Amino acid sequence: MIPFDRLGPVFKVFSSLVYPRAFRTVFASSLQEVPETGSVLDVGSGTGILSQFARKARSDLLFTMIDPAAGMLRFAPAFARRVLGRAENLPFPEKAFDAVFAGDSMHHFSEPRRAVMELRRVMKKGGVLVVFEIDPGSLLGAMITGGEKMFREPAHFLRPGELAERLAEAGFECTVSRYDWRYAIIARAGHG
Ligand SMILES: C[S@@+](CC[C@H](N)C(=O)[O-])C[C@H]1O[C@@H](n2cnc3c(N)ncnc32)[C@H](O)[C@@H]1O
Repeated sequence: MIPFDRLGPVFKVFSSLVYPRAFRTVFASSLQEVPETGSVLDVGSGTGILSQFARKARSDLLFTMIDPAAGMLRFAPAFARRVLGRAENLPFPEKAFDAVFAGDSMHHFSEPRRAVMELRRVMKKGGVLVVFEIDPGSLLGAMITGGEKMFREPAHFLRPGELAERLAEAGFECTVSRYDWRYAIIARAGHG
């Protein structure tokens, strides 16, 4: 397994490099729909880079970060509430959040289907879900998939269409944007 618990200092310095500038622009504009002082959950937050981007666009939002690696959360910014836990069993009530992020984290979840249902459960209707992932159909994505399998990571990589379908089954309306070997899905929580 990848020793995330020991990688906090590395992610603190380098995690911003994972996210292309074009994605950051799309991400910031998707946050304009979130109500004033809305609540945000960053799942598999690591050191919280997505929340840091989001805060630059919307400093009024209230952030919670959840991750099973204490060694990651230790390096998360102080503006966020930090919670030790897993996506498959979120310790929050139903409809608690206006926006949820899963940045480069969903393929690490041991039970991604269950995690998607949990994300939907804790989101308000009309809330915004932002998922950023690696496309296993690209050359680099296939190499990363192989590398993560060597580390005995879950490596639950999905093609953009497959993930969009899975999210739609859980009640999300999805828009996919592609960035070479990476992609993002911005989804709205429908009825449920
Ligand atoms: C590649 S890092 C990405 C961290 C951060 N989102 C970023 O973009 O820098 C993946 C993160 O997912 C977390 N993770 C692994 N399994 C998880 C699970 N079941 N639920 C929530 N987070 C998980 C890891 O601890 C790690 O911090």
